[in-house]
Amino acid sequence: MPVHDRSSFESLYAGQPRWEIGRPQKAILDVADRITGSVLDAGCGTGENALFFASRGQKVTGIDFLAEPITIAKQKAAERNLTATFMVMDALALKELPEVFDSAIDSGLFHVFSEDDRRRYVEGLASVLKPGGRLFLLCFSDAEPGNQGPRRVTRKELNDAFAEGWVIESVVPSQYEVRPDPKDINFGRGGPKAWFVVARRV
Ligand SMILES: C[S@@+](CC[C@H](N)C(=O)[O-])C[C@H]1O[C@@H](n2cnc3c(N)ncnc32)[C@H](O)[C@@H]1O
Repeated sequence: MPVHDRSSFESLYAGQPRWEIGRPQKAILDVADRITGSVLDAGCGTGENALFFASRGQKVTGIDFLAEPITIAKQKAAERNLTATFMVMDALALKELPEVFDSAIDSGLFHVFSEDDRRRYVEGLASVLKPGGRLFLLCFSDAEPGNQGPRRVTRKELNDAFAEGWVIESVVPSQYEVRPDPKDINFGRGGPKAWFVVARRV
């Protein structure tokens, strides 16, 4: 079932979302040294990825369209004595953000959008990334069998989405770390298959 509207995410947060692993995604950690300068985390959830970069002293802004995960992200920042900005904001309105960033991360947001919203989202990302800035994106891949969870994304769809105004530096098979419980969805061993994309804004 493709999950992409606000109420679906609200009900997922009322339970135990599969992506809430309590630590940054390994795919992001693996390239952390390349995620430099100020960082935008689009669809940050409760902020584990964003807070990792805050802990390295980077200027970080996390946005999510739901108030609840943003409240939790702010609490985590306070508990860990970290400085980060977390805001309730629709990622489809990124053009309204009065700030530009050196890097952006997206762990689990891109695959949520319809074709039209995807276009708008990528345009927004381009408007908030400095020229030469990089986007690091982890999304569900069409290599993941079945249709439970988010929609699958093909390599061609990624090429199309970043065809104008971007250079795709790499698209590599990866995996999304998820909680082992509850067992409502059976993903393969090691988590759902994903693409890890590095795209540079020209
Ligand atoms: C799969 S979760 C991933 C959360 C986090 N990035 C992580 O890796 O743990 C996707 C997140 O995107 C948020 N989201 C979905 N649509 C959004 C939109 N249009 N604007 C901002 N956030 C959105 C959801 O509320 C959810 O927190």
